[in-house]
Amino acid sequence: MPPPSTSAPDVRQTNFRFRCISCAELSDSASQDFRCARCGDLLEITYPQWKQALPNLENLKSAWCQRRLSLSPIDLSGVWRFRELLPTLDGGNDVITLREGNTPLYELPRCARITGLARLFAKHQGMNPTGSFKDCGMTVAATFARRAGFRWVACASTGNTSASMAAYAARGGLRSLVLVPEGKISWSKLSQALDYGAVTCQLRTDFDGCLRLLQELVRRAPVYQLNSINPFRLEGQKTLALELLEQLEWQPPDHIIVPGGNLGNSSAIGKALLEMRDLGLISRVPRLSVIQAEGANALVRTVRETGGKRLVSVQAETRATAVRIGNPASWKKAVLVLEATGGVCEQVSEIEIAQAKAEIGAEGIGCEPASAVTLAGLKKLVKEEFVKPGESVILILTGSLLKDPDFTMKFHRGDLFKESPEESASATLNPLRRAPVVLDATMDAVVRTLEQAEKS
Ligand code: F0G
Repeated sequence: MPPPSTSAPDVRQTNFRFRCISCAELSDSASQDFRCARCGDLLEITYPQWKQALPNLENLKSAWCQRRLSLSPIDLSGVWRFRELLPTLDGGNDVITLREGNTPLYELPRCARITGLARLFAKHQGMNPTGSFKDCGMTVAATFARRAGFRWVACASTGNTSASMAAYAARGGLRSLVLVPEGKISWSKLSQALDYGAVTCQLRTDFDGCLRLLQELVRRAPVYQLNSINPFRLEGQKTLALELLEQLEWQPPDHIIVPGGNLGNSSAIGKALLEMRDLGLISRVPRLSVIQAEGANALVRTVRETGGKRLVSVQAETRATAVRIGNPASWKKAVLVLEATGGVCEQVSEIEIAQAKAEIGAEGIGCEPASAVTLAGLKKLVKEEFVKPGESVILILTGSLLKDPDFTMKFHRGDLFKESPEESASATLNPLRRAPVVLDATMDAVVRTLEQAEKS
């Protein structure tokens, strides 16, 4: 069976085309693997007529703001309210939305002090409907899957993409197929996919093995792939950066710091920053830096060992299971973004991740381990003097604390590094641990615990 096209005959594109990131070949439709028909590299979405078609920028900014007061679902979505900068199709506003986006920007004063910065902020994408940044891309890609007439959507996932895809598919009346590595994703994420009705396959392989299998599947069966290879996902995820700049009154920060796994998110944020600069929405581009876990450091090695020319794949291993990825699909897009924005990539250890996660938690915010790599990486970038104490920095927190309670419980109980090579070094984390205490149900016992806590 030939690969089904993403452009069914009854769907007319109005404002975008596909462009290959390597040979720049333009096309009006994309095959299901979202690769260039000429050279095989990844496609991105481009808007040839933007400059002529877009209204005055000040009017645009105020329309985006005004929409937050509207009652229509498309305006209340923190993604679709930026729709002038997204792909549109003829045929109305029947988008699949769960009110994604519109996420908070929090100040982190204690983390700023720990890091040696005057101020530090985090944009918390874990506050999305399914608890991760994936929802912003999913609303766009799921909408296009339905418009193109697909009945089935599918993804390989470390857990968050599958939770998000299953939810949006269910809302849009689509069936969904999830491929996840067996035993390597958190129960919270797996349970979301089950609850939202996905057909869920736990494969005896890792994420990279799941993604390889999915690539083959979409060539054989009419299922629409919703991994971040799908450029519609990245268009939705782009709005994180638009909303961030709106929250900063369009004054660009000096640095944005993002975790790196399959490298879709860094690619999307970078694309948004460059588009905003080209349109004149911002006057300069913040440096976008990507942080990886040491055990899943394919981008770091690719940049250090080949100057970003050739992917160095790794056998990934990290407790931050969301980024347990060794063969990132969007590595080339991420390298282009690092170069274009003047950002860097850095890696952090398992202990540094656990410490940073507890420090973000102690701000009353919390996040999942993969998000905490941003704070751990920032500390290194400050030490290396890449980030200066007076500069403005935004961390992108990608997932909610509730996504991986097992990690948090093990950390506080002191079990996270038990019988691992890091066991003795992990003693440095003890002051951050808050293990629950089991007591007899007496007033005395509780008062004693309170007094001890006060002393410590
Ligand atoms: N943070 C979280 C919480 C994630 O779930 C992911 C990726 C990343 C960071 C990395 O983002 O892949 O765009 O570089 N999770 C994917 C998934 C792979 O299947 O849920 P990326």
